[in-house]
Amino acid sequence: MTIGKRLMAKTKEQLYAELAQEVEAILEGETDLIANLANVSSLVWNKLPDVNWAGFYLLKGEQLVLGPFQGKPACVRIPVGRGVCGAAAKTLVPQIVEDVHQFEGHIACDYASNSEAVLPIIVNGELLGVMDLDSPKLARFDKVDQDGLQKVADILQSALA
Ligand code: SME
Repeated sequence: MTIGKRLMAKTKEQLYAELAQEVEAILEGETDLIANLANVSSLVWNKLPDVNWAGFYLLKGEQLVLGPFQGKPACVRIPVGRGVCGAAAKTLVPQIVEDVHQFEGHIACDYASNSEAVLPIIVNGELLGVMDLDSPKLARFDKVDQDGLQKVADILQSALA
């Protein structure tokens, strides 16, 4: 081994740059909604540390209905406006929640979850649903995570448009 060369942990930025490339590659040439959401949830789940749930809820009428995900079984229906997912769907603004126990109306699917990131997925100007990540760590998600996840959402939105 070269003197001075050390194995260094990847930065969050590196992880998200790799994730974006992987998402681009896996969506290439495929338009099937369920297949694409399933593969993206798998890539996110396998790439990011300290995540105990990663997946999608899809807008059906006035509700978000569970879509492809990785992690423990989750609640199936969330009214728009309820919980963190419902807030993202209602406001169309990404939600980064440091402590879900302090979030009014938070829906606990897994009591191990302490922080959460939810991004609206908007295809052709319409809300398709949300991408949701949970973590057992408090304040797991920050601005770097939000930007990295937004990049994933952007790639997905383009692929599904
Ligand atoms: N905690 C979410 C519900 C979905 S699960 O985390 C998978 C919420 O409050 O919207």
